[in-house]
Amino acid sequence: MPIFDCATLTDIADRFGTPVYFTDFSLIQEKFQQVDSAFSRLKNAGKRVKIFYSIKANSNPFIMRYLLSLGAGLDILSEGELALSLRSKASPSDLMISGTMLAEELLSQASGLKIKINLDSLESIQRGARAGLKRAGIRLNPLIEAGHHEKVRTATSASKFGIALEGYTIAKEEFRKRGLSLDGIHYHIGSGIETCDPFVRALSQICRTVDNLSQLKYLDIGGGYASSKGGKPFDFTNLVNSLIENSDLLPPEIYIEAGRYLVANSTVLLSRVTEVKSTSRRTFVGIDAGFNDMMRTVLYGAEHPFFTCGCAGKKFRADLVGPICESGDVFRTDVSIAAKEGSLVVFHDVGAYGYSLSSNYLTRPRPAEIASYKSRIFLMRKRQTPAELFSDVSWKSFSSFLKQASR
Ligand SMILES: Cc1ncc(COP(=O)(O)O)c(C=O)c1O
Repeated sequence: MPIFDCATLTDIADRFGTPVYFTDFSLIQEKFQQVDSAFSRLKNAGKRVKIFYSIKANSNPFIMRYLLSLGAGLDILSEGELALSLRSKASPSDLMISGTMLAEELLSQASGLKIKINLDSLESIQRGARAGLKRAGIRLNPLIEAGHHEKVRTATSASKFGIALEGYTIAKEEFRKRGLSLDGIHYHIGSGIETCDPFVRALSQICRTVDNLSQLKYLDIGGGYASSKGGKPFDFTNLVNSLIENSDLLPPEIYIEAGRYLVANSTVLLSRVTEVKSTSRRTFVGIDAGFNDMMRTVLYGAEHPFFTCGCAGKKFRADLVGPICESGDVFRTDVSIAAKEGSLVVFHDVGAYGYSLSSNYLTRPRPAEIASYKSRIFLMRKRQTPAELFSDVSWKSFSSFLKQASR
C-alpha cells in the first residue's frame, strides 16, 4: 500500500527536514511488474524480453539496485552513469549504453568491459572502432514526432539523435569496413508519450527499413512511456500486439529502455510553507523548495499535482512559489490551496527527472532522499551541507589569489 498520507509525511518532514524526496519502493515494484506482464505475451511468442531501466530518470543507487534485483538491466548514457552503475554492483553484462556524441573515454570503457552499446552516427562508429569495439548496435531515427514537450522529442528531422533511415545501408557498410559486428537496432523517439500509436508507427518504419532485422541479435525499442494518463497506467497492448504481429521480422531479443514509467509515481517531494504573502495583485504561498530542487515545471511547464498537510483552514487562490530569485520559480499559478506558515506542500510524481535534474543553483544544498521499503523508513541520501558545496573550490589557490587581489 502506498504510504503518502499526512501522518507519515509529517513525521518524515520533522525527522529529515525539508525539502525532501520520499520514495515508496512498493510503487516501483508495481510498475516494473506492469511492464513485465504487459510484454509477457511477447515472451510467449518466443522472444526474450529485457527491460533496461534508464537511470537518467533517477540515478539513486538504491533504486537502481532494486530494479536490478527485480530483473532489469540499466540503460546508461555517460561515464558518470557507468561509474555509478558499477559502484552500485551492476555487472557490465547488465548494462546498455545508448547515448549520443559518445565520448572517447566511454567508448573505450564499453570496449574494455564488453558492455552493449548503440552507436548513433557514422563518426561514432569510426571512433568506436578506434576505441577497440568489436560489436555494437545502430541507433536509427524513425522520424516520429512524439513526446510531452519539444525538448524531449528525439526523432524529428532536426534531431541530433540517430542515423536517418535512408542512411542505414551506409551505416551497415561502415560497420563492415571497420570490422565491427552489427548486433542490433535501437531507436528512442521521445519521452512522456501517452499512447501506443507513435511507438507502433516507429516499429513499422524500422521493420520496413532494416532488411536484415530478423538476423540480428536484438531490437531495442527505447523508452518514453508516460507514467500515467488521467490516473491510468500506460496501456502497452497495441505496442505488444504490433510486436507480436511482426515477430517473424524481429530478432530474438527485444529490449525496452523505460525510465519515467518505472519511477515517476514512486516519489513525492515534501516542502514546507515559509510564508503566505499578499501584494496588491496576487497572493503567494512561498515554500522552501525551489526550481533547483525540482526543475520540471520551469524546464517543461510540467504541472505536478500537490496536496497540503497541516492546514485545515479555508482554501484560497494563490501562486505556489519557491525561494529562488527568478520570477520563473513558480510551481503552480492561481491554484486553490489551503496553506499557512509551517504546513507541508507535497508534490506527486516526482520520481523521474526530479532529483536527477536538481542542481545547486543559488548555492542551495540538494535535498535528502528517504525510502520506504518493506514498512521500514530510512535515509538513502543525506541532505547536502553548504560546506560540501564549496569543498571543490581550490581554497589554497584562493588564499594566494587573495594576497594578490587585495594589493
Ligand atoms: C536513449 C534513451 N532511452 C531511454 C530514455 C528514457 O525515457 P523515459 O524516461 O521517458 O522512459 C531516454 C530518455 O530521454 C533516452 O534518451
